[in-house]
Amino acid sequence: MDSSEYLEFLNSRCSVREYSDENISDEEITYLLDCVTTAPSAGNLEAWDTVLVRDAGRKEALSDAAMGQLQVLNAPAVFVICANYVRSMSRYGDRGILYAVQDATIACTYLMLAAHALQIRTCWVGAFDEETVREIVFLPPHIRPIALLCVGKGRLPSQLTERMAVSEHVHIEEWYHNA
Ligand SMILES: Cc1cc2nc3c(=O)[nH]c(=O)nc-3n(C[C@H](O)[C@H](O)[C@H](O)COP(=O)(O)O)c2cc1C
Repeated sequence: MDSSEYLEFLNSRCSVREYSDENISDEEITYLLDCVTTAPSAGNLEAWDTVLVRDAGRKEALSDAAMGQLQVLNAPAVFVICANYVRSMSRYGDRGILYAVQDATIACTYLMLAAHALQIRTCWVGAFDEETVREIVFLPPHIRPIALLCVGKGRLPSQLTERMAVSEHVHIEEWYHNA
C-alpha cells in the first residue's frame, strides 16, 4: 500500500451502526486480535484487555448499559475494550492510569482499522454506564471499560463523515499560532 492508498483507506472508513445478518468468523476475530497486539503501549506493557461478547442476552444488557444504543445489540460481536490499571501502575504508579487508558484507546483504534481492512464495519461506543458494563462482563476492580467496539458486516453509507479543516487543529510552535 502506498501513501495515497493509505490515506484513501483511512478516508473510506466511517462508523456503521446497522449490520447484516452475516456473522464474524473465528478466523476474522483472530486476524483482528493479531492486529491489535501490534499496537504500541507505554513501556510495552500492553495495559489493555478485551472481553469479546457474542451472546445475545449479554449484548442486550450492554445495549441497555449504553443508553439503549441498538448497534450494540445488533452487532454480531462487541469488544469491550478495557484499560488494565495494575499492569501499567506496577511500573508507572499513578501515571500508569493515564497510560493504561491510552494503551486501551490505541488498541481500540487498531482493532477498528484492522476491521476496516477486512471490510468489517465498526462503531466505537463510548457512552455507557461503566458500573453496569463491569457487572455484565464481570470485570475485576483494576480493569476499567474504555469503549465498546461493535463489529459487523454491512454497507458503508453513501456519504462519509466530514471533518474539520486540519488548520483548525494544528498550532505551530505555540498554541496561538495557527498553521
Ligand atoms: C471516544 C468515542 C466515543 C464514541 N461514542 C459513540 C457512541 O456512544 N455512540 C455512537 O453511535 N458513536 C460513538 N462514537 C463514534 C463517533 O460518533 C464517530 O466516530 C464520529 O462521529 C466520526 O464519524 P466516523 O467514525 O464515521 O468517521 C464514538 C467515537 C469515539 C472516538
